[in-house]
Amino acid sequence: AGHETILVERTGRTAVITLNRPEALNALNLRLMEEAVAAAEGFDRDPGVGCIVLTGSDRAFAAGADIKEMQGLDYMDAYLGDWFGAWDRFAALRTPTLAAVAGHALGGGCELAMMCDVLIAADSARFGQPEIKLGVIPGIGGSQRLTRAVGKAKAMDLCLTGRTMDAAEAERAGLVSRIVPAADLREQALAAAAEIAAMSAPAAMMAKEAVNRAFETTLAEGVRFERRIFHAVFATADQKEGMAAFTEKRRPSFVHR
Ligand code: HXC
Repeated sequence: AGHETILVERTGRTAVITLNRPEALNALNLRLMEEAVAAAEGFDRDPGVGCIVLTGSDRAFAAGADIKEMQGLDYMDAYLGDWFGAWDRFAALRTPTLAAVAGHALGGGCELAMMCDVLIAADSARFGQPEIKLGVIPGIGGSQRLTRAVGKAKAMDLCLTGRTMDAAEAERAGLVSRIVPAADLREQALAAAAEIAAMSAPAAMMAKEAVNRAFETTLAEGVRFERRIFHAVFATADQKEGMAAFTEKRRPSFVHR
């Protein structure tokens, strides 16, 4: 309620945040950052939400940070104001997040999509880090997450030339989880989100935490971390239910605890 730059909706255990600045191809201004992050944190705290979908329009997921808003920024304002720092809170959400991307996902838009756990792209999606063409560089993790996702060769290519990748190239490179026809994006993204949201919420959160740990630590540490969490799942009611349902040949009914 009262949002200027996003739309929010709930359907079952899925929450959907739609970026909604059509006049600027969903450019990420400060207002949008505050609204989207606050909405996502609200859903993250809600035990009734098992997956958060982030999406845009057919034309653009987001065409980057708002260039007109940034244009006059100086170093002290950027530093003291911690410009774009709030997006780190989006990356730190514990609930699984799913980006449903159609059209332009450029600059901050590509970076935001890469913060999500699952990235479903319409065949119309285009990804890139064109900041270099503006005389700047990525600012919410693009140089790091893109490199981890697609490797140095393609990350350097994209960050240094500013060229865009189509959905097929992005999928081949490992940036995208799945590609779907543009007309089916919303339906397919919501179906995938509902599937995730129906899983045991603690197991899904633990799986997310364990996969993300792979980007932050050594293999030996990561495997140890996973083992500790794996042992912890036996404390959940959902583990008892999930395994009982399997042996009784029925569908599990998780209580998300
Ligand atoms: C502000 C933007 C914008 C942006 C588009 N618009 N992108 N406004 N910031 N990032 C506005 C245009 O000014 C225009 O407004 C309207 O949206 C439609 O855009 P057009 O350019 O007319 O559309 P089109 O010709 O279809 O071209 C689409 C496009 C192009 C290729 C995506 O808009 C474009 O190159 N945008 C900038 C992409 C970019 O450089 N992104 C990186 C930003 S830097 P008017 O009023 O003229 O109709 C960045 C740094 C990250 O993201 C830092 C951390 C967040």
